[in-house]
Amino acid sequence: MKFLVLALATLALAVSAQLQHNGAWGTRGPQDVLLFRENVVAKSKWLRVNKVDLSYPQRGQNGGTITAINVYDGSTNGKGGYAKIKAGGVGQNNVTIRFKSQRGKAMNFTVEIYGQK
Ligand SMILES: *[C@@H]1O[C@H](CO)[C@@H](O)[C@H](O)[C@H]1NC(C)=O
Ligand SMILES: *[C@@H]1O[C@H](CO)[C@@H](O)[C@H](O)[C@H]1NC(C)=O
Repeated sequence: MKFLVLALATLALAVSAQLQHNGAWGTRGPQDVLLFRENVVAKSKWLRVNKVDLSYPQRGQNGGTITAINVYDGSTNGKGGYAKIKAGGVGQNNVTIRFKSQRGKAMNFTVEIYGQK
């Protein structure tokens, strides 16, 4: 019985991990600091795909050298969107990330960019 509960819990964890569309690029080193953190949220639109481009550094910010970019999908049911890097990225001092929702679905991502100032 105990084993079954444990097996089910493990399975549930594995499934929920798969249902999140997280993204990770690069590796955060011990000297790296959080350069930027932002939530990217879009409401569902009937039959529409939401596209949001997020750029770092934002106007008035000085960009640091990026070592790691993490994207967490706040949607755990597999209905969240997807993130991909459109320009810049790890090793550069700027990045543009494109977020796309699924058709007719909302999205809710958290972006963290680490690096050296
Ligand atoms: C987005 O996800 C976060 C973390 O799961 C949650 O706390 C927050 O309420 C969500 N926001 C929206 C608008 O769904
Ligand atoms: C991003 O950084 C690269 C060099 O790291 C530079 O060539 C490019 O012009 C920058 N792009 C923007 C949009 O600032």
